Amino acid sequence: MLAIISPIMVSAKDFIVGDDKGWSTNFNYQAWTKGKNFRVGDRLVFKYTVGSHNVFKVNGTGFQNCIKPPLSEALKTGNDVIVLATPGQKWYICGVANHCDKAGMRLSIFVNANPSPPIHVPSPSSPLRKPKDFIVGDERGWTKFVDYQAWANGKDFRVGDRLGISQNLDLSC
Ligand SMILES: *[C@@H]1O[C@H](CO)[C@@H](O)[C@H](O)[C@H]1NC(C)=O
Repeated sequence: MLAIISPIMVSAKDFIVGDDKGWSTNFNYQAWTKGKNFRVGDRLVFKYTVGSHNVFKVNGTGFQNCIKPPLSEALKTGNDVIVLATPGQKWYICGVANHCDKAGMRLSIFVNANPSPPIHVPSPSSPLRKPKDFIVGDERGWTKFVDYQAWANGKDFRVGDRLGISQNLDLSC
């Protein structure tokens, strides 16, 4: 199995399945998963005495019905390490005797994606924007008929911006 290790990944964890009980009969693996946060890049480690058990990765149907894949697909070193390479639901069973359906040796976990790196979005108050031109009074220009305080209200003036004074040459004012 090939694991793509992305540089943004935060400290991958090893989970010893069943902790000090390891991969064994008559242990509640669903209870063991409670409160654990499995993430892409983390690893499951199945520990057991070689020959007593094995590990198959199966699908949901295989998990429900304890369907054993071909023996050639079994992990059987007694210290089987599985890298959680993709997010989603994952299922594992023991394929020895009736350990899956009679002795509780099945594990179902949900693997969470790693959070994306934070993307910097300049907030509206950020000084990062191109300088702007403001025409005082807009189309009305610089005249005594405009409330300039009201015109300026709510405008976002920044260093580097320019004010344009547009004077109406109509001498009636
Ligand atoms: C589950 O895996 C079995 C082989 O073990 C396969 O025959 C079956 O089609 C799979 N089911 C789904 C829903 O992928």
